[in-house]
Parts: sequence; C-alpha cells; structure tokens
Amino acid sequence: MKLVASFVALVSLFHISRGANWPFDVTTISAPDGSITAKFVSFGATMTELWVNDKHGQARDIILGYDDNSQLLTDPAHPVFNPIVGRYANRIKNGSFSIPITKDLQPDGPNVYHIPTNDHDGQDTLHGGIHGWDRRNWTITSKSTTSVTYRHIDNADEGFPGIVTAFATHTVENGGILKTTVHATATEETPIMLTQHIYWNLDAFQGSEDILNHHLHIDSSKVVRVDGNAVPTGQFINVNNSVFDFRIPKKINWDWNATVGLCGGECQGYDHCWIYDHDESSKPGVSLWSDVSGIRLDVTTDSPAVQVYTAFWLDTPRKVVHGGPGLNYTSFAAVAIEQEGYIDAVNTPEWGVDQIYGPDRDFEWNSTYKFSLVH
Ligand SMILES: *[C@@H]1O[C@H](CO)[C@@H](O)[C@H](O)[C@H]1NC(C)=O
Ligand SMILES: *[C@@H]1O[C@H](CO)[C@@H](O)[C@H](O)[C@H]1NC(C)=O
Ligand SMILES: *[C@@H]1O[C@H](CO)[C@@H](O)[C@H](O)[C@H]1NC(C)=O
Ligand SMILES: *[C@@H]1O[C@H](CO)[C@@H](O)[C@H](O)[C@H]1NC(C)=O
Ligand SMILES: *[C@@H]1O[C@H](CO)[C@@H](O)[C@H](O)[C@H]1NC(C)=O
Ligand SMILES: *[C@@H]1O[C@H](CO)[C@@H](O)[C@H](O)[C@H]1NC(C)=O
Repeated sequence: MKLVASFVALVSLFHISRGANWPFDVTTISAPDGSITAKFVSFGATMTELWVNDKHGQARDIILGYDDNSQLLTDPAHPVFNPIVGRYANRIKNGSFSIPITKDLQPDGPNVYHIPTNDHDGQDTLHGGIHGWDRRNWTITSKSTTSVTYRHIDNADEGFPGIVTAFATHTVENGGILKTTVHATATEETPIMLTQHIYWNLDAFQGSEDILNHHLHIDSSKVVRVDGNAVPTGQFINVNNSVFDFRIPKKINWDWNATVGLCGGECQGYDHCWIYDHDESSKPGVSLWSDVSGIRLDVTTDSPAVQVYTAFWLDTPRKVVHGGPGLNYTSFAAVAIEQEGYIDAVNTPEWGVDQIYGPDRDFEWNSTYKFSLVH
C-alpha cells in the first residue's frame, strides 16, 4: 500500500508540474456551491475563463481571452489577457532605474539598470520587458478542486538584478469569490511591482457589445499625471469636478466625449492609474456592475493603486463563447482593472514610495474578487 501510495504521489507530482500541453495546460477550479468556475494555464499563471451566474441564473464567461491559449505567446498584438504581470508592471521611464532610486539618473552611473524598452518607440519599458512574467512558463506546485498555485523563477531576466521566485495562488470560494495572492522573494535588492491584468466584460457579449454602460466605482481622489509616453510627471490630478471622478459610482461613459485624447493622441477613454483613498484594504477599491447581466464585481486589495484601461487599442478575434472568431474584441469591448503599485515609483523618488524588495523584504500582492447580483 505504502509503495503504491508513494508511486501515485510521485506520478501525480510529475503530472501536476507539467500537465499535457504545458505551459498551456488548463486547470479548472470551482467553488463547491457552483457559484464560480475559473480556468487557468501555466503560461503567465493566466486566467483564461471565469464563469459566474447572471441574474437569470445562467453562467457567463466574463473575461476576454483566446480559444487557443498558445496565442498568449504568439498574438503580436499582445493585449495581455489576464496573466500575472511582472517583475515590474506598467511603465519604467527609459527602461532605467537605480538602486537606491534617484531623480536625475546618470545612465552609466553606479547601480543603474537598463531593461529593454518595448513601448512608445523605445521611450519606456512596458510590463517587465520583452518577456515579462506574463510570457514565462510557470509551473504548478500544488492544486486542488478549488485552488492552484504556480511558481515562476525569474533568473535576473530582462536585466533586473537578482533572482526572484514568485508563487501565485488562485482560489475560489462559495458565494462567488475569487482570490489571487502572490508572494515573491528576491536574492538581491530589486524593484518588484506586479499586477493581474484582467479584462472584464460583465455581459460576456450577450445583450451588449461593450462596457460603456457598466457602472464603475473607484475609491480614489487622485490620478497619476503622465507625460506623452504615459510615464508619471510626479504630479497628481485631483479628480474633483473632472472626468476621472468615480468616487460616486457612474457609468463608464458618463462624460465620454470628454475622454477624447485622454489616453493619448488618437485614444479615447481611460488608461490611468488611480491612487486609492482607502488606508485599510477591507473596503472595496473598485466596483463594477452591469444592469444587463446583473453581475456585480467588488475588488478588495492590498495594492495602493489601480490602473483602469478601457481597451481602446483592442482588435483581436473573440472566443467562440463571445461570438468569435468572426467578430473581434474591439475598442471598449472590456475594461482592464489592474491592482498595482504607484506606477514608475522607481523613477519618482519624490513620492517616497518604496518598491525595492530583497533578502530582507518579501513582496506580497493580494486581491479578492467578489461577485454578486444587482436587480
Ligand atoms: C536612456 O537609457 C539609455 C541606456 O539604455 C541611455 O543611453 C540614454 O542616455 C538614456 N536616456 C536618457 C534621456 O536618460
Ligand atoms: C516555454 O514554452 C514555450 C511554448 O511551448 C516554449 O517554446 C519554450 O521553449 C518554453 N521555455 C522554457 C524555458 O521552457
Ligand atoms: C469639489 O469641488 C467643489 C467645488 O467645485 C467643492 O464644493 C467640493 O467641496 C469639492 N469636493 C471635494 C471632496 O474636494
Ligand atoms: C459627443 O460627441 C458626438 C460626436 O461628436 C456628438 O454627436 C454628441 O452629441 C456628443 N455628446 C455629448 C453628450 O456632448
Ligand atoms: C480581427 O483582428 C485581426 C487581428 O488584428 C485582424 O487581422 C482581422 O482583420 C480582424 N477581423 C475583423 C473582422 O475585423
Ligand atoms: C496576503 O495573503 C496571504 C495568504 O492568504 C496572507 O498570509 C497575507 O497576510 C496577506 N497579506 C496582506 C497584506 O493582506
């Protein structure tokens, strides 16, 4: 018996680390009460489907994605559909930083690091470089019917200092709850700033084609002011009396014409970093709901900020379940809501935000997504 048991354990351990089609092996987790089912692939520790019930009791898959998950690697558009993004999410000015951080970086100064610049014609780094964590082959270290944990070892990739080992755990619970937690350790001092880059459409393209009529609440009074390369100037925009004010819930398109050019020259809509007002993470930072499906999402997080991107640049064939592949996900088909740190704080020392982790300081990132119904 014992021998058989260890043999089974060994086989399942092997099977668990590298499922068929790894790194595109699919793991499904479901809450016992049937309220929520999520699917993931090892590649990027990425969520590929998320099913919750609408007001009619019908399950809808409320996140964007591909039917062929290998497109997470090969789609040249790289919309970043629902993975863990790291080692440093969002932008890094000129792909450069120093440790300790400084305002006036000397490119060839001591302890200055250069990451490949893959955004705005080489003016900045986006989402951790050319091959950030979202395009790495994570491995499963444990799983059950309600939870899966992936590990990624970042071996000083993309020019960042030190080895970072990250564990990302996705768990579902009764009552329509999804939790994602990331714990990372580093062998040397390094910036770490992660996000989970989920694109939501709470109607799942049934009864509406975009998120413009979704209601949005953001518990935030200030937005990071950015320059033409979408990197921070160091200043904040006070949301009061502006198109950024979602302290009282509003439809995303409540002042839509005023968002022309807001996210760049030809871009309409939002792609901004809101700094949360909350100083305890028990209160939802963001809420999103749709009258069409009746699905409501409340996000609680220990992140100090959130990026909200209304997906102007999307043009990718939809999943079959969303009406694809003949129809594409296009502008405003979804809203990406990314729990994160202050963007490019490593080049903005005046904020006094410490994003340097290392042997004496582990990194942690926790977000909880709670689903309910509005009638
Ligand atoms: C940007 O970084 C490069 C090195 O990657 C350096 O040569 C260049 O001078 C930097 N530009 C600015 C404006 O600091
Ligand atoms: C990661 O997976 C991709 C896609 O299968 C493969 O091409 C690549 O060689 C793998 N990389 C590593 C380091 O295993
Ligand atoms: C917002 O601005 C109005 C004036 O336009 C002012 O009366 C109000 O107190 C301000 N609210 C906050 C929260 O700053
Ligand atoms: C928004 O802009 C469109 C096109 O320019 C115009 O037809 C519409 O009346 C505007 N809506 C509002 C509320 O100003
Ligand atoms: C969908 O997007 C793909 C990739 O950008 C593009 O090649 C194709 O023409 C688009 N299809 C439609 C129907 O717009
Ligand atoms: C994050 O979640 C982990 C695992 O559930 C927990 O141990 C840790 O205390 C949480 N951290 C914060 C800051 O909430």
